[in-house]
Amino acid sequence: MKKTHILGSILFAFFAIGNSAQAQIYNPFAEAKANAFVDSLMSKMTLDEKIGQLNLPSVGFDVTGPVLSKDVEAKIARGEVGGVFNTFTPIAVRKLQERAIKETRLGIPLLLGYDVIHGHRTIFPIPLGLSATWNLGLIEQSASVAAKEATADGLNWTFSPMVDIARDPRWGRVSEGAGEDPYLGSRISEAMVWGYQGKNIENLSKQNDKLMACVKHFALYGGAEAGRDYNTVDMSLYKMYNDYLPPYKAAINAGVATVMTSFNDINGMPATCNEDLIQGILRKEWGFKGMVVTDYTAINELENHGMGIGKTVAARSIKAGAEMDMVGELYLLHLEYLFAENPEYLKYIDRACKNILLSKYRLGLFSDPYRGLDEKNQSVMLSVEHLQSAQKAAEESFVLLKNENQVLPLKPTSKVAFIGPHIKRKRDLIGSWSGAGDWKKSVSIWDALTSTGSTVKAENIKYAEGCNLLEDLELIAKLNPHDGQIESPKDSKKLLKEAMAVAKKSEVIVVAVGETFGMSGEAASRSNIHLPVHQVEMIKSLHTLGKPIVLVLMNGRPLVLTDVLPYCSAILECWFPGTQAGPAIVNTLYGKNNPSGKITMTFPQNEGQIPIYYNSRTTGRPFDNNQKYTSKYLDVSNEPLFPFGFGLSYSNFEYSNLTAETKGTSVVLTAEIKNISQIDGQEVVQFYASDLEATYTRPKKQLVGFEKVTLKAGESKKVTVNVEQSQLGYYDQKGEWFFEPGIFRFSVGGSSQTTLNKELKVLMTFKPHVTPEF
Ligand code: NOJ
Repeated sequence: MKKTHILGSILFAFFAIGNSAQAQIYNPFAEAKANAFVDSLMSKMTLDEKIGQLNLPSVGFDVTGPVLSKDVEAKIARGEVGGVFNTFTPIAVRKLQERAIKETRLGIPLLLGYDVIHGHRTIFPIPLGLSATWNLGLIEQSASVAAKEATADGLNWTFSPMVDIARDPRWGRVSEGAGEDPYLGSRISEAMVWGYQGKNIENLSKQNDKLMACVKHFALYGGAEAGRDYNTVDMSLYKMYNDYLPPYKAAINAGVATVMTSFNDINGMPATCNEDLIQGILRKEWGFKGMVVTDYTAINELENHGMGIGKTVAARSIKAGAEMDMVGELYLLHLEYLFAENPEYLKYIDRACKNILLSKYRLGLFSDPYRGLDEKNQSVMLSVEHLQSAQKAAEESFVLLKNENQVLPLKPTSKVAFIGPHIKRKRDLIGSWSGAGDWKKSVSIWDALTSTGSTVKAENIKYAEGCNLLEDLELIAKLNPHDGQIESPKDSKKLLKEAMAVAKKSEVIVVAVGETFGMSGEAASRSNIHLPVHQVEMIKSLHTLGKPIVLVLMNGRPLVLTDVLPYCSAILECWFPGTQAGPAIVNTLYGKNNPSGKITMTFPQNEGQIPIYYNSRTTGRPFDNNQKYTSKYLDVSNEPLFPFGFGLSYSNFEYSNLTAETKGTSVVLTAEIKNISQIDGQEVVQFYASDLEATYTRPKKQLVGFEKVTLKAGESKKVTVNVEQSQLGYYDQKGEWFFEPGIFRFSVGGSSQTTLNKELKVLMTFKPHVTPEF
């Protein structure tokens, strides 16, 4: 990761530090005050007290690793803890905070962290679903609702957003990210940071309903080889800078307060002890001013990486700049001895301690360690307003993948058979990483259909379970020790018989199947991403009845859907939709909500196509049906099943009049879009650029702007986006950013398979003072 363009590097580093958006966010006067306070506090601290600040144990039940923290309360009282995570509720938090304040010599308050990922008590769709809304305001609002509820529960730090770009749907954690695109991923990354922290970090101490965000997993965790969690990452600087780093950088520019290192290695160096990554890219290039925490026991895991044992891995990590040790306690154990052997280590301990204390200061913990903790604040939990927001997010996250003969929306008078385990099952609705969410409080499809407010008449709907959610006993045995929620399979023949009887009497069959919540998320990689065979078999049997089938899917990743596609007239991808799943799905099926979601990760035709993503680079031998020696497979086409950005609507849209012109340092793109249907709807207008004259091979196309527009039936609108110079530039193979004048092809459409394009020569000159934002 070392730069060799010395001059470029110096220039770049200068502008990155001096002008970085993060540096600008911090008010120099407030920072001077913060530094003076922390310096004075540190002058009173012993070495042990400083080391204590670097320790982050877990107190509670959310365990995501093989090691458990022990005797934490006693350690707090001894000044051996800087923060804890996995504890919430005002009573529990107050108890721990009081120990730190009242029982330690200097009364330094604790950080109180938790994985508030897609909502705290009110659960929003999983992040992959949220990203499919392409609604940045709504995404920011989801984080802001989460912050309100989490702070009311005493938390001041969330381990979110996860912004790892992922191109491999076998990796279970794609459910926690925003998909495959660096531009969209960056916009979502900053929206999440703003939602949690507010736009100005200096106000954090005055806003008790905001908390510190933590961008993770730095870096490139989504690039795991073979899609297997925690696996090796090997990546060129070219790919890293252009495709994988932008969303982390966007979070830094948005003012994110903390960064979490990832478990993986990068080109042979684990992220947690990677000096080039933490000191080089994060601190020097990007000017990050906050605090760096490790992932769960990531320092200890350096031993498995073969980086040495105990003291050595602690030494390597603290020197690299991993500041807070999550759960592993190797800092607690070894830093004092390291200092005794080599006093130089004091410098690293001081650096870490100072950044941790500065974070506490910026949060306002030194003036109010309880940050407005008050039982009364609990009324915000699951408030009507929060539930409405979660429902809107769910509705906008659904992606209509197919709708033959306009089988959807359903007519209220149709006789509908609702079949499948996901019709009534509640446990999966909030996904696998739903923190303090209570799945029992979520609303199932059947609950919504039969609730008092439902407009669907009871005589028009029938239910049958149809099949087991899972039948594979080995898989159930793997999932249940952790999730404990999958029942032993029932008699599948009996289930099918009941379903066939119910379906026979209906006009339309709605089938709700997919994954269980535990089949995606951390440590949940799959090599086979089809629907389970027995679910497919049920769909095929129902198809023999000759009635249209509407497939409602709940899952945490793109699936291979080729084996059910021919049997289903409509497919609605609902991800894991959160607390308000039922009403959101019923509203969509019956047309009260017109689907507007677009997938943010490519759906492949089979697993052999992976990695498959829309912004792949050009090849010298692109596919040509008439030529043998071109880039292709013999057994499957190069095309995805559903491309990035794809999603249908009950409305139809027509694009026209794309124009492209340069204006100052940007290119202005405009297009007209018309709703040519009888139904009001929303469309995500997507603009892409292709660099046709570049020094390096570039993506065939890349997203450069988008807008989600609402159009009444028959209405048309002109949509304009400004594409900044920085978006048309790129990083070279050494990680140096540059812009090349030349011809670009701009295109627009309702998916990455755009319909209109226009070429334009862009002659802007490189201006070093323009800090690249992308
Ligand atoms: C491990 C996960 O990788 C990370 O995302 C999470 O924040 C920590 N555990 C803490 O729970």
